[in-house]
Amino acid sequence: MGKKLVLVLLAAVFLFTTFGLAFAEEKGNPRKGKFLFRKSCRDCHKEGAEGKELSPSSKTMDQWTAAFKQEKIDTYKCKEEFAKLNEKDVNDIYTYLHKYAADSPSPAKCK
Ligand code: HEC
Repeated sequence: MGKKLVLVLLAAVFLFTTFGLAFAEEKGNPRKGKFLFRKSCRDCHKEGAEGKELSPSSKTMDQWTAAFKQEKIDTYKCKEEFAKLNEKDVNDIYTYLHKYAADSPSPAKCK
């Protein structure tokens, strides 16, 4: 009886940590995202450049989520720029932009 309970608890803890980690990873790293945005996007998306000025606060959280759907990215002039990055990097950039979006608790401009 007691042994079974311990096994069930162990299984629960195991599942929790495994999936917990998986979800944590999916969120991406906003600090790395900021670095990557500056490195791979900013040159074209600042005032006076060929793309329009883009900062986290240029869009709302929902708008960033929509903007990073693959179907949407495929319509951008700069889709090749996205294709140069791996999925994780794109997710980090998305996390950064989404975290500091116009309607987030701390909207930010990319300076
Ligand atoms: C070589 C220049 C260049 C690079 C690098 C670049 N873009 Fe673009 N991007 C453009 C141009 C040009 C457009 C079309 C004009 C516009 O709408 O800004 C565009 C359009 C967009 C749009 C659609 C416009 C909007 O307001 O929704 C988004 C979003 C976007 N880019 C995000 C990015 C992100 C994120 C990166 C970095 C991964 C990036 N771009 C890198 C040139 C670039």
